[in-house]
Order: sequence, then structure tokens, then C-alpha cells
Amino acid sequence: MSEILNNKRIIMGVTGSIAAYKSVILARLLKKAGANIDVVMSDGATRFVTPLTLKAITHQLVMSDMYDLKSYLKINHVSLAERCDLIVIAPATANTIAKLANGFADNPVTATVLASRSPIIICPAMDGHMYENPVTTENVSKLKSRGFIVLGPESGELASGLSGEGRMIEPEKILEYIKLTFGQISGDFKGLKLVVSAGGTREKLDPVRHLTNRSSGKMGYALAETARDRGADVVLVSASKIESPVGVNFIPVDSAKDMEKVVLGECVDADILIMAAAVSDWTPVNINDQKMKKGDEDILEIKLVKTPDILARLSTNNNLIKVGFAAETENLDSNAQKKLVEKKLDIVAANDVSLADRGFESANNKIILFDNQGGEEDLGMLTKYQASTKILDKIKAIMKIKSKRNR
Ligand code: CTP
Repeated sequence: MSEILNNKRIIMGVTGSIAAYKSVILARLLKKAGANIDVVMSDGATRFVTPLTLKAITHQLVMSDMYDLKSYLKINHVSLAERCDLIVIAPATANTIAKLANGFADNPVTATVLASRSPIIICPAMDGHMYENPVTTENVSKLKSRGFIVLGPESGELASGLSGEGRMIEPEKILEYIKLTFGQISGDFKGLKLVVSAGGTREKLDPVRHLTNRSSGKMGYALAETARDRGADVVLVSASKIESPVGVNFIPVDSAKDMEKVVLGECVDADILIMAAAVSDWTPVNINDQKMKKGDEDILEIKLVKTPDILARLSTNNNLIKVGFAAETENLDSNAQKKLVEKKLDIVAANDVSLADRGFESANNKIILFDNQGGEEDLGMLTKYQASTKILDKIKAIMKIKSKRNR
């Protein structure tokens, strides 16, 4: 997990919908990510989930009464609003949305929003017909035009037993959007376009078979998420089947040839390319239109032809920061150094893909970074998210050196 939320002050507004139970999950996720959370609740919300529950999770003040004499704050909603970095209202009912659109300040949630100048995310949750009602649509549009970030609602089963649009988006996704928002406000990669490839490409043999490798794509996805959290404009070119992270431009591909086309196109105006994909080096000369039948022969020979080397094709672009991975099963250092030079990379991340506890398919990786300044850094065994942070730090350092040299 990235550290973007460490010590961030977030106000969580909870209003009276059955989805209020999910606010407990969101509070736990935010807390785990290192944020300080103050909770404000409407009276309706306290009927669904108790202030005590949220206090026990956040270890912070929970404000459910505008006129609480026991509070240590001077004027609760104003003090809270002043010291926060972001407000998230999850769930936001139709009633709360209407109040916010019209400047009401009659409960801890609405009063705090009115007193605040920080970014505000709202996550609507209501019956489908209430959401479709033109008055709600108008209120939501009003809030959007004032800069509120509106997430969801999603379609699915509703508490009424009906299906429709009105379900609050899941807490895990809200967390992702909160990170995205912070990245876009103050991330150190803000304004930079970063292209990252992920997964093992698939080279088609016939309609039911392909050649591929063991790469899961986890490393590329961790890099994409970390770069997004740090404010980069991320394009994820993926041959993996893992669902796209929130807030990145996701381009699914299959073969090495597909990946080459997309990566070359995206790199025209990119600042950074990280090739974390395990690109197949070979592809069948012929793709059979129909399923290949077994026949009588015991041995099948398939002719393969080399795929284009995507990184090598970009080797003449000096403005692009190029990061490659070296997937090795022996001679890690020398093979990685060779790739650094031959592919004209700025950084190569060398990893051993023959061991079960790291690299392909694992949540962890042990990477050694070699850079074109002669630097060598053993990152040790880390989660792929932790390793991503270190790789991005190294990219930043190399960019600084390059920009000094160009001055
Ligand atoms: N790569 C690429 N295009 C290819 C093959 C690899 O851009 N056709 C990139 C990979 O994404 C990786 C780096 O080149 O960032 C090194 O890939 P790797 O598989 O380790 O090595 P190869 O260059 O394929 O060489 P070898 O298989 O001989 O080790």
C-alpha cells in the first residue's frame, strides 16, 4: 500500500442510509492507510450505525450533535472543517444532497461542509427512483458544477429489493478515489505522463490456445497505483486479466505486437515508460483459423518468429525516462547490466524469477536497481507496492540529474 494518506486529516460524513454500515469499513480502511479521521453524523445516520462504533474504529472525535457541550473544540463544525485536508460523505442520501446543493447547515454534516474549503467527495446512496428523480439529478449537477467530486452510485441490488442505480460504491473503491484526489492535489509526479506495461503477453496459436508465461501483472499494477497516488497521469497497458485500478487510463492488450503498437503510441507524449510486462520473445509464425487437431503424429513442431523488442525500439528517444525489468534465472547482475546498456535504459530493475517467494505471481519482490549513472541499489525483500515506491523515487532522482544536465 502507498503512504499517500499518512497523517492526512479526513472528515468522514455519514448520513441516514442503510449503506451507513459500509462507513465502518471505510473508516477502518482509511485508518489502516494512516489517515486521521474525524466523523460527523446526521441524526438519521445514528439510527443505522452508532457513534460509538465509529469512535472505536477511528479513536477520534465523532460529532453527531451540533450542540454538544462536552466537546473540546471551540465551535465544532468550524474547527473540524478548518483543520481537514478532505471531506468524504459516504453514504450521502438524497436529503443530504439536496441540503448541500442549497447551502443548508442544520446538522454536523451539512454545517461542516458549508464551513469547509477542502475538496469534498460525496458517495450517493438511495433508492433508484429517488436517484432518477429530476430534482436529485439537478442537485447532483449543481454540486458537480461547484467542484464536488461525485462517486457513483452503482447499479445493483438495492435495500428495497429492487434493482437499479442507487447503490453506494464500495469502500475499497472510495479509498482508491481518495488517494487519486490527494495525488492530483499534491503528488510529486503531478503533471507527468507515465506509461507502464504489465502482465505476460499471449501469442495466439489457434482459437483456443496461446503461448504465454507466468507473469501475473501484479508488479505493473502496483507501479500504476503508486504513480497514480503520487499524481502521475498513468496509462496502464496490460496483458493481465486483473481488474484495472481506479483513476488510470487502462488499455488491455493481448500479444507483444498489440503491446508494441499501444506503448509506442502512448510514448509519443509521455515522460516516463516502465516496461514491467513480461513480453513474449517469440510468436507463432502461423495462427490457425481453426482448432489444431491432434492427428497421428507424436511430436508437434511449431515455428516461432521473434517479436519486436519494444524497449529497444524506443532507445533513441532521449527525452523519455525508460525503465526496464530484467527477469532472470541466473547471472542476475551481469544480465541486468547488459540490458541497461543494450536497451539504453535509465534504470533496470533486476529480479530473479526462478524463486517461489518473489517475482512472478508473488505479492513480494526482491529487486536490485541499476541506473545509467553507475548506481546499484539492492532494495531487499519488499511488497510490490513498497518496491514501486522505491522505483519511483529512483526515477525522480534520475530525472533531477537529467534536467540539471540539460540546463
Ligand atoms: N521487453 C520489450 N520487448 C520485448 C521483450 C522484452 O520491451 N520483446 C522488455 C521487458 O518488458 C523488460 C525488458 O525488456 O522491461 C527485459 O525483458 P526480459 O524478458 O528480462 O529480457 P529480454 O530482453 O526478453 O531478453 P532475454 O529473454 O534474453 O533475457
